[in-house]
Amino acid sequence: MADRLVIAIDGPAASGKGTLARRLAAHYGLPHLDTGLTYRAVAHALLQVGLPLDSEALAAEVATSINLGALDRDILSTHEVGEAASKVAVMSSVRKALVEAQRKFAESGKGAVLDGRDIGTVVCPNADVKLYVTATPQVRARRRHEEILSKGGTAEYAEILADIKRRDERDMNRADSPLKPAEDAHLIDTSEMDIESAFHAALEHVESVTSAKQA
Ligand code: C5P
Repeated sequence: MADRLVIAIDGPAASGKGTLARRLAAHYGLPHLDTGLTYRAVAHALLQVGLPLDSEALAAEVATSINLGALDRDILSTHEVGEAASKVAVMSSVRKALVEAQRKFAESGKGAVLDGRDIGTVVCPNADVKLYVTATPQVRARRRHEEILSKGGTAEYAEILADIKRRDERDMNRADSPLKPAEDAHLIDTSEMDIESAFHAALEHVESVTSAKQA
């Protein structure tokens, strides 16, 4: 492996990018940052004290105080927080503060794996490896649905699909840092792959890039 390795992974909700990021980080012994949690943490902090989600000044102030070491996935992973996160994520001053913290994370130590929506395009444009992980909205909605049911929850597939499409629309069409593949990203469509095949496709790509760099 090269001295430093930064892997940038982007893609829409429920594409499988988070699982891939965790698996790659474990494989290479690198720290992992799920940058979605940073936007969720801002939204959660505002919701918790009953502050409005549409004040950019307030949201930006909260964003500058987010501690990357204290992001609690269990608390932040609710549907309500995800929706609210995609609203504060359109605000440029929120993005500026969070991107700064995310870059510091990527630049420290021997590298990192970051996943989100703008990692290859904005946060780490010089990442060694960029992956763009996607799947059809129907497949992503089915995965989310099965995940909720397997945890004993209840949910309507049609509602989840509508949520996913609404979130894609907001993330792909915002003015600042819209979700899109970086020009040099390697695309992995997981619509017809299980996680094991997706991991092997990702690993193969990372290995081919890192061995070409070392040669
Ligand atoms: O990935 P996750 O669902 O946790 O992200 C929540 C929201 O945070 C996304 O819908 C998106 O609006 C925003 N986000 C972003 N840029 C990132 C990561 C997440 O705008 N790098």
